[in-house]
Amino acid sequence: MSEPILSVRGLEAWYGRIQALFGLDFEVAAGGVTTLLGANGAGKTTTLRALSGMIQTSGDILLADTPIRGKATEDIVRLGVAHVPEGRGTFTAMTVEENLQLGAMTRRDTGGIAEDIDRIYDYFPRLAERRRQQAGTLSGGEQQMLAISRALMLRPRLMLLDEPSFGLAPLIVEELFAILRRLKDEQGLSMLVVEQNASMALDLADEAYLMETGKLIMSGPAQQIGSDENVRRAYLGY
Ligand SMILES: Nc1ncnc2c1ncn2[C@@H]1O[C@H](COP(=O)(O)OP(=O)(O)O)[C@@H](O)[C@H]1O
Ligand SMILES: [Mg+2]
Repeated sequence: MSEPILSVRGLEAWYGRIQALFGLDFEVAAGGVTTLLGANGAGKTTTLRALSGMIQTSGDILLADTPIRGKATEDIVRLGVAHVPEGRGTFTAMTVEENLQLGAMTRRDTGGIAEDIDRIYDYFPRLAERRRQQAGTLSGGEQQMLAISRALMLRPRLMLLDEPSFGLAPLIVEELFAILRRLKDEQGLSMLVVEQNASMALDLADEAYLMETGKLIMSGPAQQIGSDENVRRAYLGY
C-alpha cells in the first residue's frame, strides 16, 4: 500500500450552526481511487466541499504531509487539489479549448500546457473533435468530460469528482469511467470519487466507504464492499 495522498481524521463540517459531517476518517492512497458512496443527502458533496475549504470544518486534513484544513480554496487548488463539482460548471460561452486554457490559468509553462492539451485530446477524442465548439453546445457527457479535462489542466495531485455519472446515459457513463480508469492506470492520477452509481464507482475504486447522514458507516476494499449482501441490496439493486 503506497503512502496516502490524502488523510482525513475526525472531519466535522457545519452549515451555519447545523452540523453536516460527524468525525469522518478516510484516506486516498497515492495513485489510488477511493469512492464515497451514499444515498442523496448522505453528505457526499459536503465532504468534498469540506476538503476544498468551502465550508466551516474541524479535524485534520493532510495532503501528503501538508495540513490543508482551514486554508482558502484557492490555496488548496494551488497545492494540487482539483475539484470537479456537481453540475460540472464549464464556461458555456467559451470554446472547449478556451475552457482548457482557463484550467491552466495558474501555470506559466506554455510548452507544458500545449502538451497537456494534446494529451487530454488523446484521452477525450470527443473533445478533440469539438475543440472550436462552444462548451454550451456540448452534450451532457461531453460537458462532464470537459469539466474533468479542465481540472486535469491543473496537473492535480488529487482530483475530487462529485457524481461524474449524474444525468448521463449508461453508455456514456461507461465511456467516462473507462477514461478515468486509463487516467488512473497510465497517469497514476489519485482520485476521490463520490457517486450514487455504486457499481461503476466500485469497479474503478480500490477503497470504498459508505456514508449515511454525515457519517461513514462501512469501509473496506472496493471489491469486498461490492460483494457485501446488504450493500448490494441497498445500493446496487441486485
Ligand atoms: N448549503 C446548505 N445549507 C444547509 N444544509 C445543507 C446545504 N447543503 C447541503 N446541506 C445538507 O447537508 C446534508 C448533506 O447534503 P449533501 O452533502 O449535498 O449530500 P449528498 O451530496 O450526499 O447528496 C443534507 O442534509 C443537506 O440538506
Ligand atoms: Mg451531492
